[in-house]
Amino acid sequence: MAEKADEHRRAMSVPLLKGQKALVTGANSGIGLATAVALGRAGADVVVNYVTGAEEADDVVGQIKDLGVQAYAHEADVSDEDQVVAMVARAVEEFGTLDIMVANAGLQRDAPLTDMTLAQWQKVIDVNLTGQFLCAREAAKEFMRRGVVPEVSRAAGKIICMSSVHQIIPWAGHVNYASSKGGVSMLMQTLAQELAPHRIRVNAIAPGAIRTPINRDAWSTPAAEADLLRLIPYGRVGDPDDIANAVVAMASDLLDYVIGTTLYVDGGMTLFPGFATGG
Ligand code: BGC
Repeated sequence: MAEKADEHRRAMSVPLLKGQKALVTGANSGIGLATAVALGRAGADVVVNYVTGAEEADDVVGQIKDLGVQAYAHEADVSDEDQVVAMVARAVEEFGTLDIMVANAGLQRDAPLTDMTLAQWQKVIDVNLTGQFLCAREAAKEFMRRGVVPEVSRAAGKIICMSSVHQIIPWAGHVNYASSKGGVSMLMQTLAQELAPHRIRVNAIAPGAIRTPINRDAWSTPAAEADLLRLIPYGRVGDPDDIANAVVAMASDLLDYVIGTTLYVDGGMTLFPGFATGG
């Protein structure tokens, strides 16, 4: 009994992702930034991808290195095939391999349908959906090449797709964004089915309203925040760390048997709060 307890204590004191190599896209702000730092805190070495904002990316790299793990910044547009291929190749070169891909980079280009340009539609699909396809594809190649290393993880690799509550909640005025996230949901499930036999775990995290630059208008004034809180049963706007912690758990062996799921981290936003008093 005492031995078992000792073993348990030892296991708990080892950082959850010790020795793992992670890449986070869009890691110089918002959810990506918090996620990159949280992965470092959990013991992983981290590639901090960004497309604009080199200074912020360098700052994130500094924060991660201060935790005693390795990190570097890499500029790449996730919607550009050659740039994604080069980014993953460099990660393998610098860190030896890759264990965790967090396909996080995403953006909004909002407009009512009749004003939405094809360019606005295309940009959002390119970054939010095609970007995740390219990152997942390149990561999966490395995971398959290397296979399972039992001392590192029970899985050959983990792909975590950053989705949104809008993968199931329709969102007027944001048809490009909602369509991209609906696509991410099916991308994730199909890849999960295809890659599970290779011991690769593919899952998604679906954030609700998180306090980041993407939705500043929705929380930056008291009136806007009060309006937003009507959609959140739990009564608070989310913090980037709420999502970052979910990513760490999803990437770790604690959730090794979780395949093809979406974890909603949304304070109850997907519970149809309007029906709490109506219907
Ligand atoms: C969007 C945010 C929005 C949230 C909840 C996210 O996916 O990027 O702008 O506040 O969903 O509606």
